[in-house]
Amino acid sequence: MPRVFSGIQPTGDPHLGNWIGAISRWAAAQEPGHVFCIVDLHAITIPKDPAELRAKTLDLAAWLLAAGIDPEVSTLFVQSHVREHTELTWILSCSAQMGELNRMTQFKQKSAGRESVSVGLYTYPVLQAADILAYQADEVPVGEDQVQHIELTRDIAHRFNTRFGETFTLPKATIPTAGARIMDLQVPDAKMSKSAETDAGVILLAETPARTAKKIMRAITDSGSEVVAGPDKPGVTNLLDLLSAVTGREVPALEEEFAGRMYGDFKKAVAEAVNDYLQPARDRYAELSADPGEVQRLLAIGADRAREVAATTMAAVRERVGFLPSA
Ligand code: TRP
Repeated sequence: MPRVFSGIQPTGDPHLGNWIGAISRWAAAQEPGHVFCIVDLHAITIPKDPAELRAKTLDLAAWLLAAGIDPEVSTLFVQSHVREHTELTWILSCSAQMGELNRMTQFKQKSAGRESVSVGLYTYPVLQAADILAYQADEVPVGEDQVQHIELTRDIAHRFNTRFGETFTLPKATIPTAGARIMDLQVPDAKMSKSAETDAGVILLAETPARTAKKIMRAITDSGSEVVAGPDKPGVTNLLDLLSAVTGREVPALEEEFAGRMYGDFKKAVAEAVNDYLQPARDRYAELSADPGEVQRLLAIGADRAREVAATTMAAVRERVGFLPSA
C-alpha cells in the first residue's frame, strides 16, 4: 500500500474549489498510511496574525474532519505539533543547494516586488521536503504548481541517500486526474481561489446557503442564452462543471436536461444542488466547531501517530549524518 502525504495551508477561508479539488477527494481516498498535515509552519513564511493563524488551523481541522477524514483510519495532524519537521528541515537544508532554491517558481512569484523577503520563504521547499521524507511517502497528491517542489524533494532525497546511504523513499507527485477545476464565478477564467480580490465569485464552505445561492444567481454568464459548455462560454461551462461535480452527472446529460431553459432556471438548480451537496458537511462542521476541545483531542491523537513515524526516520537520519547520541 503506498504511503501518501498531503499538506494544506491553514490560510484563507476554505471554499468549494478546495473542497472539490482536494478535501473531499482526500476523504474519499483515505487509507491507513495516508498522512494529512495542516502546514502551519509553512503559513508563517508570509507574516500572519498569530490569533488568526491559531483560529484558522483549528477551523481547517474541523473542515477536514467534517469532510469525513477519519482519525482512526488516516493520520491528521498539525505540522508544528511534530518537531521532527523542523529538525529534518535543518539537516536537509545542508543537502539542498542555493542554485536549486533559486529556480523555484513559487519563490520567484511570492518574492517578486516585495521589499523584504524572509529566509523562511526561500527555504520553504526544504520544509516541504522534510514533511514528505519524514514519512517515507511514496505519493504526494498536489496541483501543478507544486510539482517542482516534489521534484526538488526527490533530488534532495537522492543526494542524501547517495552521500549517507539509503535513508529516504523517493516520492512522486500524483496530480488528480480530470475532475472539474472550479473557476471563480465572477472571473470564470481564473481558478476559484482564497486570494481572489473579493469573495463574490468564491463559494465559502462556511457561508450560509442563502449567501451561496445569491453568489450563484449572480454568477457571470455568457452572451447567448443556451445552457451549453464550450470555450466561448467560460461562465456557463464553469456552472455546468460545478453542477456535474456536485451531482456526479455528466455535462452532456446536464446540457440535455437544460436544453431550451433559461439561465435563471439553470442557476437556481445549480444553487440548490451545491447547497444540498454541502449541507451534510456544513452540519458536521457546525457540531465540530462548537466543540474545539474534541477537535484538539483528535489532532493530538494524529500528532502522536505522526511522531512515531517521523521519529523513526529521524533516528536513522541522525545516525547517518554522524550525530553523537545523547547518553
Ligand atoms: N506547499 C504546499 C502548497 O502550498 C503545501 C504543502 C506543504 C505540501 N508541505 C507539503 C503539499 C507536503 C504536499 C506535501 O499547496
